[in-house]
Amino acid sequence: MQLSHRHDDFIKPIDMLGMLNIYGPTITASKGDEHRKYRSIASPSFNENTHRTVWREAIRQAELMLEVWNHNTGHVSNLNVHANRYALHVLSKALFNREMAWDLAPEKPPGHQLTYPEAISAVFKYNNTLFMTPRALLNISPVKEHRLARQAFVEFRKYMEEMVQEQKRMAGAKQPTGHVNLLENFVSAAHSTHASPIPDAAVFGNLFIFILAGHETSANTMTFALSLLACRPNFQKALQAGIDNIVGGRDPATWMYPQDYTKIMDGHIGALMNETLRLYTVLPFLPKTNEKAQTISVDGVKHVIAPNTLAMINTSATHRHPKHWPLPLNRSYDSPPYPVSSFQPERWLSEHRPVPGAFIPFAEGFRSCMGSRFARIEFCAAIATICKNYTVELEDGTGQAALAKAEAQLSSGVGFEMGLKLKEPVALKFVRRSV
Ligand code: HEM
Repeated sequence: MQLSHRHDDFIKPIDMLGMLNIYGPTITASKGDEHRKYRSIASPSFNENTHRTVWREAIRQAELMLEVWNHNTGHVSNLNVHANRYALHVLSKALFNREMAWDLAPEKPPGHQLTYPEAISAVFKYNNTLFMTPRALLNISPVKEHRLARQAFVEFRKYMEEMVQEQKRMAGAKQPTGHVNLLENFVSAAHSTHASPIPDAAVFGNLFIFILAGHETSANTMTFALSLLACRPNFQKALQAGIDNIVGGRDPATWMYPQDYTKIMDGHIGALMNETLRLYTVLPFLPKTNEKAQTISVDGVKHVIAPNTLAMINTSATHRHPKHWPLPLNRSYDSPPYPVSSFQPERWLSEHRPVPGAFIPFAEGFRSCMGSRFARIEFCAAIATICKNYTVELEDGTGQAALAKAEAQLSSGVGFEMGLKLKEPVALKFVRRSV
């Protein structure tokens, strides 16, 4: 809490995060006035109009995703790929007003070698190469990995340039609506008439970082949540009964924001999200540093932190602290911390709430997540739309062996890339609910 809230004393280690600036300066890898500026440009885009768009688009995209699954008789061998696409589509609509279809064989637009989703997934696939390889080397290297990374980088930049150009063209023609999206805000902040315009590179850097921050995080959370749900049929039944209670027989297209969302977030689906984020904290550590010596107090004892110390807020351990997170009966913290065995979403349905600082999946304070409400709305809309009509099951069946295999995957098969994710997908199937 002290590291999160003393924002003048503990800042982001910019040297370490600078590698994220592949397209230009970003909100994530900046500090002080520069960070404040990007944050103030972006903030107005996260308003209730945007949230309403997120709700509507998330429901629409979840229905489109279900159609794709239905084509494959409900079998989904790698949910994360679809969840990524779902989250990217919702983000594109809400932040860039770009409507995306689930076209399984999309055509490449003229002048492009990759489609927009292909370019984005390739940038994420080769992100380590892009972050670590000097640009001069990447530009000439004949190594296949480098060539593909370069192609992804160039293609995605072209798409961003086209979006920016299109936005500039429309800016003059458009009637003011009072609702301005992230793209519009960054483009107009770079315009020469702006009081202190940001460089064009900062538009590209920030568009990229918002896509990075806002789609894998949500996709990984959704993947873990649905995989966990398949392992807990009883909780899933209760969750489905909860949805029926809230929305009855109403068509998802008529579900309302904020009324239905609030009830869904306060019920089993919100509990599922919180418990998933507790055990699968997408960002398991949050880096901070201090330019001057700082004193922090722990249990009444003062500790001096030397200048330029790299301090990691260990979110993962915070979410398992035995004082704040008692395990279910007959489990012990002495045994390995298998997330599935301590998965207890029901804890969120009681009045009991964690003390401040004990649950920090979106971080705390000045550098906390800008999209936390966005992410919650998107999650609730997807899970409600899917689970209203479908039950998620393990592809391998409901027996003990299938459950043990899935639990092992969901425990030791988890790794860290840009965030925490499953290394091997848990194969799932979606079965239509009998009414
Ligand atoms: C379940 C989904 C998400 C999780 C768990 C999550 C978590 C986090 C965390 C822990 C941080 C702080 C990082 C740090 O201190 O190093 C963060 C920052 C950020 N997040 Fe999220 N996030 C999610 C979704 C989103 C979405 C949907 C968006 C945008 C649409 C978004 C935009 C951002 C931005 C811009 C920052 C940087 C804020 C700053 O440095 O001032 N996030 N997120």
